[in-house]
Amino acid sequence: MITVKTSAEIALMRAANLIVRDTLEKVGEAVKAGVTSAHLNKIAHDYIISQGAIPSFLGYEGYPASACISVNEQVVHGIPSDRRIEDGDIVSVDIGAIYKGYHGDAARTFEVGAVGELKHKLVEVTKQSFFEGIKVLRDGARLGDLGHAIQSYAESNGFSVVRALVGHGIGTEMHEDPQVPNYGEQGRGMRLRAGMTIAIEPMINAGDYAVRQLSDGWTVVTVDGKPSAHYENTVVITSDGCDILSL
Ligand code: MF3
Ligand code: CO
Repeated sequence: MITVKTSAEIALMRAANLIVRDTLEKVGEAVKAGVTSAHLNKIAHDYIISQGAIPSFLGYEGYPASACISVNEQVVHGIPSDRRIEDGDIVSVDIGAIYKGYHGDAARTFEVGAVGELKHKLVEVTKQSFFEGIKVLRDGARLGDLGHAIQSYAESNGFSVVRALVGHGIGTEMHEDPQVPNYGEQGRGMRLRAGMTIAIEPMINAGDYAVRQLSDGWTVVTVDGKPSAHYENTVVITSDGCDILSL
């Protein structure tokens, strides 16, 4: 079921998403060569709790941490561990929080030291693909228009769009209808309406779009081992555009 949120609900979703945004900023300040991903997870967990919110990933379908931390060829859902971040890594951090019953969800990819031209371009194109996508949003825009805008920008830069994972509606649940693909055809798919809240989260690969899951049951990696980047915000559709709740 797709829900349209009231302005009171959107205010709560903005509060949840600002906590997520600030958590990502705190983690981003700590992403440096030598720190473990478990340390980054602890910073995220403690900050979310300090704001009176609940880390929504912790325990979700048995997920064991409050942040997803995915390095280099890891696409999403990397489990924090004793692995140390190294110079030249790109580190995707995905955070979710529940505040007064409403969810926030956002992700950023951070560059550690000198990452080289390819990874830098990948991180920039992934972020920009989100902003290219939201240009088409307004009351009545179609999901296919959004996916097409993201996909054509990523592919015109020589990268590929992950197909196996998609964005999602969000509200009192982390994952609500509809599914929000980062690929698609113009003029196809359902129409978005003002007041719908969706998490748009391009996952862009430097090589082929094929991904697989590691035996830990969570970590998604590229099949070809080439790097991948992730950028996500929760937005509300408005009459003539959208409002980004997690920026
Ligand atoms: N933010 C992600 C999503 O949109 C990750 C959630 S997976 C979890 O699906 F298990 F960590 F919760
Ligand atoms: Co999400």
